[in-house]
Amino acid sequence: MPTLFLNGVPVSVPAGLRLSDALPPADAIPLPCAGLGRCGKCRVVATGALSPVSEAEKAALTREDLANHVRLACCTFLLGDACVTTEKAASAHILLGTEPETPAPPRPSSSPGYTRLGAAIDLGTTTLAARLYDETGRLLTQGGCPNPQSHFGADVIARIQASIDGEGETLARCVSEGLTGLLSSLCGKAGRHLTDIDGLVIAGNTAMLYLLTNTPPHALSKSPFQAGRLFDETVTAESLSLPVAPGAGVYLPRCLSAFVGADITAALLFDQTATGHESRALMDIGTNGEMALWHNGTLYACSTAAGPAFEGAGLSMGMNGETGAIDHMRVENGRLRAHVLGESAPRGVCGSGVIDAAACLLQTEQMDETGLLEEDPTLLSPPVSLSQKDIRMVQLAKSAICAGFLTLLQTVGLPLCGLSSLSVAGGFGSYLHLPSAGRIGLLPASVLPRVRVIGNASLYGASQLLLDTALRAKAAAMVKSAHLVPLHANPVFVSLYAENMLFPEEDG
Ligand code: FES
Repeated sequence: MPTLFLNGVPVSVPAGLRLSDALPPADAIPLPCAGLGRCGKCRVVATGALSPVSEAEKAALTREDLANHVRLACCTFLLGDACVTTEKAASAHILLGTEPETPAPPRPSSSPGYTRLGAAIDLGTTTLAARLYDETGRLLTQGGCPNPQSHFGADVIARIQASIDGEGETLARCVSEGLTGLLSSLCGKAGRHLTDIDGLVIAGNTAMLYLLTNTPPHALSKSPFQAGRLFDETVTAESLSLPVAPGAGVYLPRCLSAFVGADITAALLFDQTATGHESRALMDIGTNGEMALWHNGTLYACSTAAGPAFEGAGLSMGMNGETGAIDHMRVENGRLRAHVLGESAPRGVCGSGVIDAAACLLQTEQMDETGLLEEDPTLLSPPVSLSQKDIRMVQLAKSAICAGFLTLLQTVGLPLCGLSSLSVAGGFGSYLHLPSAGRIGLLPASVLPRVRVIGNASLYGASQLLLDTALRAKAAAMVKSAHLVPLHANPVFVSLYAENMLFPEEDG
């Protein structure tokens, strides 16, 4: 039976079906003209073994649509293996954040990594984010979508295991289809063709780059966790199954270690953390908490496994930061008030909403400092609730982040007051309500006034590496000299981890 990669997720479907009939109810698309091929509304991005473009499609779709693999689901038949991205998935509202002011914005480069259309990508464990740049270096458009690999597990460990179990090729194909769908959608928005893209930069954590390139990830799964491939290399788009311009190169920035990836390299470059005389830190809070500290002219880094709670995954009603997600909460007249993305009915809660919710529950005393809920589950905004198990996940995650950060500082003998700034990167960090982060002890409360939220710095750094190839060697050299601070079995970390499991007292 042929395999249909639907929004990147493989499903078995009988050959000969119309695409509109092959979509399961959850991904069904409206057929306003009842599938007669007249309205042109049942658009999907589809590649693979499909029936030839019909006359109805030629009439309903533009040449640009056809070049970007847009098809009408009611007029297209499945002949074998194929990939379909529904427009809903390709245009899913993913929080990208706004690029903050930087001390030195990227300069126009004489050596960009493309000639016609360039793509910078942040390959996140949970989300994919991309930007398109035209030949003059102007940002044309940006967007994001969920990482379809989530189907194989919310965290990198599950996906590494799936790859070891023989799913490596499927995982690689899954993410390349996700990227193709996202880039197709962005090209469509910008009035350009996928085949105009002739240079790309993909930043991501080490495991994500391993899975993208189908590199056997055994070394990432067991002690001493030594990555044999740290990238700083250009591969062909063909080798990643990306249907962009023939011969297009994809630069993969250098990773620091098995668990501190190229996303941090790109973020450090963008943030200019590793410059100047002051002690500065950068943190990306996601499934993994990756952090770096610049102190006395040396770069130190570590990574801590936070689990997927802050990415909205793994919680009983967790979801991505998209329409329907509670992204913020506050207490008003002693009652919980939720803000929902897209001003719609709440369907779940995303990472920033979970942090706020925990802080609010402490404030209303519906939860005590040990994390015990008065009622399990506790309703946040009907029908969305948080369970006791969810709160335990949040405690493990916030303690891992805070303890990792404090261990990094203690390792170099730097007191908290000696840190001049802490840059918080990542989609989650952008929407984090800092007082809530301090209230639940995700970050030490005393450091909050020195926190800078810098958005998806991995994507912005990847953009710099795309626009100026001279920065690639500079970024690789910067991270090559970094000192890695191991947290595994580190007694300082172990003790701080246990200490930070509770929620701090109100004035803590
Ligand atoms: S449903 Fe109208 S063209 Fe497909």
